[in-house]
Amino acid sequence: MTMDNIAISRTTKSRLAEVDLSNLKFGRHFSDHMFLADYVDGEWRDFRIEPFGYIPMHPSLMALHYGQSIFEGMKASKNVEGQALFFRPEMHAKRLNRSAERMCMPTFPEEMFLEALHTLIGMDSDWIPPHEGSALYIRPLMYAADEFLGVKPSDNYRLLIFSGPVGPYYSKRIQLWAEPYYIRAAPGGVGAAKTAGNYAAAMLPSKLAKENGYDQVLWLDAIHHKYVQEVGTMNIFFVIGDSIITPPVTEDTILHGITRDSVLHILREETDYKVEERPLSIDEIVEAYRSGELKECFGSGTAAVIGDVERITYGEIDMRLPSRGEESVGVFCKNYLNRLRAGLIEDKFNWIVPVEMPELNPAG
Ligand code: COI
Repeated sequence: MTMDNIAISRTTKSRLAEVDLSNLKFGRHFSDHMFLADYVDGEWRDFRIEPFGYIPMHPSLMALHYGQSIFEGMKASKNVEGQALFFRPEMHAKRLNRSAERMCMPTFPEEMFLEALHTLIGMDSDWIPPHEGSALYIRPLMYAADEFLGVKPSDNYRLLIFSGPVGPYYSKRIQLWAEPYYIRAAPGGVGAAKTAGNYAAAMLPSKLAKENGYDQVLWLDAIHHKYVQEVGTMNIFFVIGDSIITPPVTEDTILHGITRDSVLHILREETDYKVEERPLSIDEIVEAYRSGELKECFGSGTAAVIGDVERITYGEIDMRLPSRGEESVGVFCKNYLNRLRAGLIEDKFNWIVPVEMPELNPAG
């Protein structure tokens, strides 16, 4: 059958009953269907939804060799009435296209992206876990599909959207290693693009940090090794005195986090803190820690929502941040976002988009 522009082939046997939605690890379970589209002869075509499964590939697939591969991470959840909702889906469509432009890949029409999301998640809405802190994580992915070994932008691309129910990304407070040598992104580079290579480049330093008991690397800038950037899985906020400071996303070195943007709106609208987007050096953070002004540090991201930071180590300097419990700005933002998704507070920013449930013919 076809839903407007999308050819649909439904699974004959849902795998939902095999998954315990009340006990989910991140990224291990996948819903029944996936959306696919192919970019051929300069246009996107063959919009289709199929049962989730393997995608055969040629050994010379260009994405595997030269890294033209971008993705998004977004979520659908259910409000207290059981209605399925997206959170700021059009922002994800726009960011996917910004990543595409930087990686010399074709953009994907925003309206088609939204239609694909509504249709796919409408079909798999029973996979949205109802429990607080869990959600249906949606992973749009675009990659170079040419079968060719020369170095050039691919002519063909594929876009996939698939999803899976997830629990919290971080289940405890986070320990950060401020990295003095390795870098994630430099001005003029691809740090602001959600591209596979950024994550690959972070693997070795993250592994070394993990071997020393840390959860993640706090990245410093590539030129001075001094200004904080982000955590790789999260943007980062510091509460210093009466200010909340996060680095600006102006140099192409930091991912334009959609949760980051939401947190900035919430803080500006709902708190009396002075909210600053400005360069922040690790020396200023150490100084604030020593003077007792560093009250809190937290990260923001789609997968993590809000991650509370317990410890930051920079060389010999070990900064321990006691939990602020209900006083915490991070907890305030997390509760605000969760209550918004649950439909318990007014959506004054217009961030919530109900999933349009397709009237599907069960015969498929
Ligand atoms: C997200 O927050 O959605 C991310 O993409 C971070 C990570 C899981 C790769």
